Amino acid sequence: MVDFNSLFSTNAHGMKRSEIRELLKIINRPEVISFAGGLPAAKLFPVQEIREVTDYILETEGRKALQYGSTEGDGRLIKLVIEHMAKDGGIKATADNIIVVTASQQSLDLVPKILLNPNDIVLVEEPSYVGALQAIVSYGAQAVPVAIDKDGLKMDQLEKTIQDIHKRGDGGRLKMVYTIPDFQNPSGITMSLERRKALVELAEKYNFLILEDTPYRQLRYTGESVAPIYALDSYGRTISLFTFSKIFCPGFRLGWVVAPKPIIEKLVIAKQATDLCTAPFTQAITYEFLKRGYLDQQIKKIVVDYREQRDFMLAALEREMPKMEGLTWTKPDGGLFLWVTLPERINTRDLFHMAIENNVAYVVGDAFHPQGECKNSMRLNFSYPTKEQIDKGIKSLANVVKIYDENLRKGKVSTTVTP
Ligand SMILES: Cc1ncc(COP(=O)(O)O)c(C=O)c1O
Repeated sequence: MVDFNSLFSTNAHGMKRSEIRELLKIINRPEVISFAGGLPAAKLFPVQEIREVTDYILETEGRKALQYGSTEGDGRLIKLVIEHMAKDGGIKATADNIIVVTASQQSLDLVPKILLNPNDIVLVEEPSYVGALQAIVSYGAQAVPVAIDKDGLKMDQLEKTIQDIHKRGDGGRLKMVYTIPDFQNPSGITMSLERRKALVELAEKYNFLILEDTPYRQLRYTGESVAPIYALDSYGRTISLFTFSKIFCPGFRLGWVVAPKPIIEKLVIAKQATDLCTAPFTQAITYEFLKRGYLDQQIKKIVVDYREQRDFMLAALEREMPKMEGLTWTKPDGGLFLWVTLPERINTRDLFHMAIENNVAYVVGDAFHPQGECKNSMRLNFSYPTKEQIDKGIKSLANVVKIYDENLRKGKVSTTVTP
């Protein structure tokens, strides 16, 4: 028998399975209503338009589109995403600032790959996106959480954390702050303009980079758009990640990074070792899709649908949830998720089992925390379930919370964390 454990690299030993994917396996029973995934609504995928554009690409440039392509990406697509970013938030970029990637998860692996040494520090929002935490840790770096409130990262806490790191002589290890400023995954919270500007100033003052992850940016249902950090940063310390997954379709695995030229140059080399290039075929289709104005149409369609879904879930929570001190939820202006906080006595990991028995699922809050905090919270997705499922599922969840809490008060259930 091969002892693989003795052969795995230190990095591989540090890798953890995605909690969400593990949980999704448990809830595969058809009767379970899942608010756990982060999937876009498949019914909205523009299948007809993709078919039309794909036929056109195969007819007009099939042999080229099926060949290898450049690591930087299709120049025509790059030109259109530059226009797209200039319209949405005033990002000024040239082709030297862009690399096309195999969706944002690839960027979340490539950026740590070029920047992080073992024991380096990345400050992350608490809670934060699991896929990013996994990537950071897989390079032997530490993800250190900083609290957020309704306006995003708490700047006083952020600066205090940075100062503490410097005081103990680790300033050189602090490489970046990772943030999802628009309709954050998992909380749905948006960082205010003031805080974005303050973050840029802190980055300059303490010499670190900002990794801005924006998969939900274009999915705004209410309120005014806030400028991307990249557009506010005159120092050139920001790397911004964009993806077509939530505004077009995740199945194409397509996104892009906008960053200062030296960062892009390193990313190109790192990407060559990873996958040579992102599929030229899907890039060509996406280019034509954008050129025909279909992306703007698609975003409009999604926004109308998801706004209704969000409102429907918020109304259901308002109607069904027990009135309980300490029970609150966020009211996101966009994105796919909202975040429920329960009284501290309720551990959502324990509650999860009862929820599953009652055919409703969510993601436990501590999965989004590098050290397993946020034990009394949960993430709910509103884009994927149908309205009927939201109605039924929230009723069931409310009932579970109520009964669990009554039992807890009667001393009937444990409050220990299930391993
Ligand atoms: C914050 C965040 N970043 C990155 C990703 C990765 O998305 P993709 O690789 O499909 O672009 C996700 C996916 O849900 C996400 O929520």
